Order: sequence, then C-alpha cells, then structure tokens
Amino acid sequence: MAEINRNARQIKAYVVSNKRVGQYHQLILTIGDVAQQCKPGNFVAINVGGNTSAMILRRAFAISRVSVNSASGGTMELIVAPHGQGSTWLCSQLEGAELDVVVPLGTAFGIPTEPVQVLLVGGGYGSAPLFGLAEVLNARGCRVDMILGASTASKIYAPMEGKRAVNSLRIYTEDGTMGQTGRVTEPIQALVADLSIAVIYSCGPMAMLAAIDSITRGTEVVHQCAVEESMACGIGVCMTCVLPTQDADGNIAMLRSCIDGPVMDGERVIWDKVGKAL
Ligand SMILES: Cc1cc2nc3c(=O)[nH]c(=O)nc-3n(C[C@H](O)[C@H](O)[C@H](O)COP(=O)(O)OP(=O)(O)OC[C@H]3O[C@@H](n4cnc5c(N)ncnc54)[C@H](O)[C@@H]3O)c2cc1C
Ligand code: FES
Repeated sequence: MAEINRNARQIKAYVVSNKRVGQYHQLILTIGDVAQQCKPGNFVAINVGGNTSAMILRRAFAISRVSVNSASGGTMELIVAPHGQGSTWLCSQLEGAELDVVVPLGTAFGIPTEPVQVLLVGGGYGSAPLFGLAEVLNARGCRVDMILGASTASKIYAPMEGKRAVNSLRIYTEDGTMGQTGRVTEPIQALVADLSIAVIYSCGPMAMLAAIDSITRGTEVVHQCAVEESMACGIGVCMTCVLPTQDADGNIAMLRSCIDGPVMDGERVIWDKVGKAL
C-alpha cells in the first residue's frame, strides 16, 4: 500500500527571487536541508492566500530543480502559471515572503541503472521538472533528447542553462510562433526509431500523456509520465486525485496520483477512463 513520501516535511520557505518568464513565474525558494531529499518528479504543496485567506486547500507544483549550497542549505525552483486565485497569489509574492510548504511529495522518476537513450517530452510548464531530470540522466551517462511544446511561444519554458544537459532540443508550438508548427507528439515515433529510445519521460497535460501512451503502448519503450490530476489534500487522504489503472495481471485499481504518483507507468493508466466512473 502506497504511503506519503517519507521525506515530506512541513516547512517555512522564503522567496529568494520571483521572475516573470513568458507566461510563467520562476520562483526560487529557500528550503534548507530538505533540498537533499527532493528528486525529479516530486512536487510540493503550498498554502496560498496568507493567514486570513479562505483558500484552505494547498496547491500542488512540480519541483523544477533544487540546488544544495552551504550558505542557505538549499533552494528549490518552481515554474508557476498564474491560473486561478491561488497560483496568482503565489506569483505575486515578493522577495523575502514566507511560505508554508510541504516538501517533497509524491513519487520520483525512475533512473535507469545503465546508460540508455532517453527522450524527455514536456508540454507547457510540464517542462519544469524535466531539466533537473536531464541533469541526473546525463550524470548516469544517458543520451538525453528533449521535445517541448505549447500552444504558443510564451508558454514554452526552456531555460538556457537547462539546454546544456540535453543532446538536442526540439520545440513545437501549435501556432508556429516558436520552433516547428505542430504538436510535441508528431516527431516521437520517428525519434524513437532513429535514436533507439528506451525510455520516454513526460510531463504535461493529460491529453498529451495519453497521446504518448498511444505511441508507446505494446512496444518495448517504457513511458514514465508525471500525471497532473486535480488534488485537494495532496497526502493520500481525500481520494480527489484518483486515476484508473490496470496492472500486468489485469487487476483494475484506482490509484491516488498524489502518493502512487505523480510519476506513473503510462501503460498502467487506463487513459480513456480518466475522469470517468469505472
Ligand atoms: C502534481 C502536480 C504538479 C503541478 N505542477 C504545476 C507546475 O509546475 N506549475 C503550475 O503552474 N501548475 C502546476 N500544477 C497545477 C496547479 O496545482 C494548479 O494550477 C493550481 O492548483 C491552481 O490553483 P488556483 O487556486 O490558481 O486555481 P483554482 O482553479 O482557483 O483552484 C484550483 C484548486 O481547487 C482545488 N480543487 C480542484 N478540484 C477539486 C476537487 N474536485 N475537489 C476539491 N478541491 C478541488 C485544488 O486545491 C486546486 O488546486 C500542478 C498540479 C499537480 C497536481
Ligand atoms: S489529493 Fe487527496 S488523496 Fe490525493
């Protein structure tokens, strides 16, 4: 039975910087020594709205990257899209603001024991955890290629320094304002064949993850995806975030994406039943 990430702690974090990048905000927070426990794929749950807010539920954000340093212990980067009230409040926090954060939560991406060829696919702010992941895979000796996509250029998050960890980066926008016109899924089949891809790591909208699964299902390619299902508690209690899954023996179960995920084996998810009763 899955349980909450055993390294999770409720901490006070402080905003070190808050920069606008296209349609997103890049937030750097000090998180102390818990940074050493954060792995690519983990997420955080942040109390939003301040002490007098009626926004009771924490909001979930993928950890983009962590850095450990002797001065502050450690920092964490988040890429936040100002979407509704909670995320807009978070994006308005200035340097020095104190945040109540539970970190790290959820499962992490599995790292191959041997150097293999991997493809990273990110949609919108879904690219956030992939750059930290690329660094880990690179250190393992893997060849790392990346495809990022979004509806338009300002929704592509592709930091310069992150590009150093990848062999190639292809960008797709639906309106053609950056990179090639089209969707991230278009080149996948050809890249898998040309580069002998063993594992695809993906993060982005559920429809994108489902489309990647339709390419990898029944093949030798492993698809590890970070799902983004609405979450209320973030710690396995409320069942808001359940996803229909089926294991290799055909057993069907609703798994909680906050503790059994967000990183899941794409082939286990019953994509056409997501959000529907089984
Ligand atoms: C694992 C994970 C990683 C994410 N990573 C990122 C990221 O890196 N960057 C980013 O910008 N966004 C990310 N998101 C999305 C982000 O959590 C939402 O955009 C954010 O919660 C929106 O909050 P809001 O108050 O702005 O929006 P609103 O739409 O006002 O509020 C949404 C909130 O309502 C609550 N809610 C939703 N559905 C239900 C329900 N059925 N029952 C009870 N409560 C419900 C949840 O707390 C939800 O967060 C991630 C989400 C998940 C689950
Ligand atoms: S968000 Fe409550 S169980 Fe997953």
